[in-house]
Amino acid sequence: MRTHYCTDVNEENIGQTVTVAGWVNSRRDHGGIIFIDLRDKGGIVQLVADPADNEEVLKIAETVRDEFVLVGTGKVRARGEGLENPNLKTGKIEIILEKLVIENRSKPMPFDLNDEKVNDEIKLRNRFLELRSEKMFDIFKLRSKAAIQVRNTLDELGFLDVETPILTKSTPEGARDYLVPSRVHGGEFYALPQSPQLFKQLLMVSGFDKYFQIAKCFRDEDLRADRQPEFTQIDVEMSFCDQEDVIKVAEKLIFDVFTKCGKTVPQTFPRMKYWDAMETYGSDKPDIRFEMPLVDVIDIFANSTNEIFSNISKDKKNNRIKALKCPNGDNIFSKRQMKGFEDYVRKFGAKGLGYFQMKEDGLKGPLTKFFSEADLEEIIKVTELEVGDVVFFGAGDKKTVWDYMGRFRLYLAEAMDIIPADAFEFLWVVDFPMFEVEDGKIKALHHPFTMPKSLDDISDLENIESIAYDIVLNGTELGGGSIRIHKEDIQSKVFELMGISNEEAREKFGFLLDALQYGAPSHGGFAMGLDRMIMLLAGTDSIRDVIAFPKTQKAQCLLTQAPSAVDTEQLKDLSLRIRKNLEA
Ligand code: AMO
Repeated sequence: MRTHYCTDVNEENIGQTVTVAGWVNSRRDHGGIIFIDLRDKGGIVQLVADPADNEEVLKIAETVRDEFVLVGTGKVRARGEGLENPNLKTGKIEIILEKLVIENRSKPMPFDLNDEKVNDEIKLRNRFLELRSEKMFDIFKLRSKAAIQVRNTLDELGFLDVETPILTKSTPEGARDYLVPSRVHGGEFYALPQSPQLFKQLLMVSGFDKYFQIAKCFRDEDLRADRQPEFTQIDVEMSFCDQEDVIKVAEKLIFDVFTKCGKTVPQTFPRMKYWDAMETYGSDKPDIRFEMPLVDVIDIFANSTNEIFSNISKDKKNNRIKALKCPNGDNIFSKRQMKGFEDYVRKFGAKGLGYFQMKEDGLKGPLTKFFSEADLEEIIKVTELEVGDVVFFGAGDKKTVWDYMGRFRLYLAEAMDIIPADAFEFLWVVDFPMFEVEDGKIKALHHPFTMPKSLDDISDLENIESIAYDIVLNGTELGGGSIRIHKEDIQSKVFELMGISNEEAREKFGFLLDALQYGAPSHGGFAMGLDRMIMLLAGTDSIRDVIAFPKTQKAQCLLTQAPSAVDTEQLKDLSLRIRKNLEA
């Protein structure tokens, strides 16, 4: 139908007749001559309907409105002197229409495609229109390029692309499952996979050696800017490997994809132990684009005459007192802002937020009276204070202090605008603990199929390390993985330590336990969030921007209105009845 995409028409085509097709981006009537900016996936070209050339075409052009679909044929000519548009790739030429066909009309748009401020609900309800914008199209070009590079790199490394089931049994990534009722087996349910974890391990037992999949995963969990109920993983597993082998594959994959997408990244990334990340940044996904480490001051605070601090200092195993230096904070933030910081950390469980200001004549602040001169000097030394700096303190049980001081570190850095926007700082966080105890319940920190370094000493479960690693980019968890348990006795022991009974383990994971008894090779792998990767590559702040048809914060698709009620017949087929009063 067309001879050229809009932006492929250029000065070399002057004098030629071309046919272009697309949408009306804008139409301007200049006293009888009509100019139409026609847009396709690549951009815009200007069409001209001039009665001097063709009366018929002008009549049609008069009826054209924004977003009508046109097919236009005409001769390319150079724009007149001073009429060139340097902002357009095609700004030096225009097409004098000889034929204009309105392929389809459009109702007036529900929102302006170029208006960034339009309410999200309107955009999501009309997502197919939002996707017409150049910004959106660029994101999906990038996503496509990245996905193709993933396949190319993994293919080159000898990985086999294998699909695994979507209708399956509950998998244990820690979120709630999405369930699908079975018609044939009334009262029974499939679960949508939270990840292909167990299937990829089974493929290793099958001898496939190297597996990958760009896999859809489903998790019913609280949504955030970097979480969707339905998302995509680059899922990888390999046999006869150690952590170094897996990390090498992940680093090559990231290097190739980012390079293909025009970004400069290193070929290997620094590493940090899990506990160091928690102690220094209060997070297992530290943003290392800026410094601002948390400094331990519990030993100094132990000497203070303030009872709260000295009491907290008595239990060094479970408590922490952390200092966070805010460079030049005294000159940047007002008293009111400092008060606001306390309100911020209180939201995350802080009982308060102490601070000292570094003045010409030493540390000042309401808390100084509890410290000796020597201890104040020591605080200045360990936190490396200079005049104008402010140092904040968080004290309490370690998990709470890590959490709110880690968040506060990010909050301050953002408030000071010191985070370089276009840097890519990757970090491997390694040596994750195998278990964590939450409200008395023992959970696997990664998942229960992760290989513990040793189960010789089980007196303190939280001290057991695992061969697990996360890849963090700019403070976002991009991916994670581990070396897996490939021996049935270790797997059973891990279930037992987690309080999972033999029967429960067999009922849920019997197929895995069986498989481990038929010559399972050692194996390991990782999964990276493709959506998160594209979000970071595209420089957007929500993964919704990089998913063609995303869900809202409340897990709804506003376009199709899913989820929605179904008719009684369908429910009957599935042996289901909706409780009238859902609260009951
Ligand atoms: P994990 O649960 O850490 O590991 O998930 C791997 C990566 O998937 C991405 N991700 C998400 N992205 C968007 N929305 C979500 N709701 C969401 N949840 C996770 C993250 C995360 O780092 N089977 C293991 C991997 C393995 O051990 O090989 C797994 O799924 O980027």
